[in-house]
Amino acid sequence: MKNYARLAPQMDARGVAQHRAELVAGLAGSVVEVGCGPGGMFRHYPAAVTSVLAVEPDAYFRDLAVGAADEVNGHGGTARVAVVAGDADALPVGTGSVDAVVFSLVLCSVPDLAVALTEARRVLRPGGALRFYEHVRSDSRILGLIEDAITPLWRRAAANCHPNRDTVAAIRAAGFEVEAVRRFGFAPAPIAPGIAHVIGSARRA
Ligand SMILES: C[S@@+](CC[C@H](N)C(=O)[O-])C[C@H]1O[C@@H](n2cnc3c(N)ncnc32)[C@H](O)[C@@H]1O
Repeated sequence: MKNYARLAPQMDARGVAQHRAELVAGLAGSVVEVGCGPGGMFRHYPAAVTSVLAVEPDAYFRDLAVGAADEVNGHGGTARVAVVAGDADALPVGTGSVDAVVFSLVLCSVPDLAVALTEARRVLRPGGALRFYEHVRSDSRILGLIEDAITPLWRRAAANCHPNRDTVAAIRAAGFEVEAVRRFGFAPAPIAPGIAHVIGSARRA
């Protein structure tokens, strides 16, 4: 947790900040952000977003996120960000009540992708938007097999992060209509290899 919070500004400088802005471009109304971590998304929400409920299970991240929310809320932005405790499996939000759900580098770590996506679908209004920015299993046969092989160890070392998830397939399987996906290789740190990432949008069908 502390490592991620420490590395996040460097990751932003390497390109993650642009990815974050792309992720939420064009959103409006109420947003639930699942697994907000230290709050790196908050400053990227467009002015048309009127509220962000940022749900985070980890107390250390929540404290940092509250600080990030105070900064955004204190600078006259339209979006009002509130940080609450909660889990992707059981969001503290009513059924069909929000305009958009945002996942940024979170679906790799949830215990069960299908459960988290079904819960996101529950809280979205009909036609509501799902936005996702995730690293995913490589399309290359060899790299995919390597990712499969390192997953058991990597999960233990990196807070249940799975390098080998097919997140876009899981989004479709959960009943979302995928509207756009940009797939690209990205190395989040200088010594890291390029890893397959996706930024995309889907609708609650
Ligand atoms: C790599 S960090 C990303 C943080 C942030 N979303 C960002 O873009 O910088 C992964 C985040 O997923 C959160 N997370 C892991 N499992 C979760 C779950 N079951 N429900 C909600 N969030 C979860 C972690 O607590 C952490 O904040």
